[in-house]
Amino acid sequence: MSYNNILLEENNGIATITINRPKKLNALNQETIKELHEAFKTANEDKGTKVILVTGSGEKAFVAGADISEFADYDVSEGKQLAANGQKILFDFVENLSTPVIAAVNGFALGGGLELAMACHFRVASDNAKLGLPEVSLGVIPGYGGTQRLPQLIGKGRAMEMIMTAGMIDAKQALTFGLVNHVATQEELLPLCEKIAGKILNNSSVAISAAIKAINANYKDGVNGFDVEINDFGNCFDTEDFTEGTTAFLEKRKADFPGE
Ligand code: COA
Repeated sequence: MSYNNILLEENNGIATITINRPKKLNALNQETIKELHEAFKTANEDKGTKVILVTGSGEKAFVAGADISEFADYDVSEGKQLAANGQKILFDFVENLSTPVIAAVNGFALGGGLELAMACHFRVASDNAKLGLPEVSLGVIPGYGGTQRLPQLIGKGRAMEMIMTAGMIDAKQALTFGLVNHVATQEELLPLCEKIAGKILNNSSVAISAAIKAINANYKDGVNGFDVEINDFGNCFDTEDFTEGTTAFLEKRKADFPGE
C-alpha cells in the first residue's frame, strides 16, 4: 500500500513508521489515522519485523494532536464516533499489538500525539520534547484514551493536574514522572531506540508477545491478569522458542529463536 501521510521502512527486524505531515506538526487527521492502522497492521503481520518504532517527521513535533480543523464543527454523535473509531483502529490497536512498539518522541507530543505515544508499549523522548493533553483549553477532553492511560502511567493526581491545566511538561519532567523511559538528544534519539530494539531482538518474540498480553491484562476490566499470566506461562512450554531457549542455556550457547 502507498501512503500519503506516513513513511514505513524496515531494516534488520525493525520497522520504523514516520508520521510525515511536518507542515501541520504531524497532526493526526482521519486519513493519517487510517494509514497508521494499515502500517502498524502490516508491520505486525510481517514475521521478519520484531520491533516497531514510531516517530514524527522533522525536528519540531512527534504529533501536535488530532487535526483540530477536521472536528471543529462536529456534533455530539460525530464526536463520539470520532473517539470510538480512533480508539478502535489506532490507539487500542497499537496497545494490543503482539510486536513491541516504541514511541520515539522527537518534539511536541500533544493531545492525540501524547495519546498515541501512551498507547505504545514504552516511550523515549528527545530533550526538546514537550508533552501534554491540552484538550480542555479547546473545550473538549482527551478522546483517544488520554484520561485512562495518563493516570495509569504517572498516577491520578499528576494526570489530573496535567489535564486540568492543559499544561505541557518537558522531557526531564516526563522522565521524572515515568512517562518516558529515557531522554536523548535529537540526534541520538533514533539510535538509542534502535539500540534498545536490538536488545529486544535477541529474545523470543513469542514470549515477548505473551508478556505484552499478560501485562496489558492488568488494565482490562473483568480480566484477572494473574490468571492470564498463568495461562500464557503454560502455553510457552509448547513453543519452539522455549525448546531453543532452554536447550541453548543448557548447552552454554546463545539462543537462536525461530519465533515459533
Ligand atoms: N491540528 C491542526 N493543525 C495543527 C495542529 C493541530 N493539532 N497543531 C499544529 N497545527 C498546524 C498549525 O495550524 C499551523 O498550520 P498553518 O501553518 O497552516 O497555520 C502549523 O501546524 C504550525 O503550527 P504553529 O501553531 O504555527 O506552530 P507554533 O510553533 O507556533 O506552535 C504548538 C506549536 C504545538 C504550540 C501549536 O501548534 C499548538 O498549540 N497546536 C495545537 C495543540 C493542541 O491543542 N493539540 C490538541 C488537539 S486535540
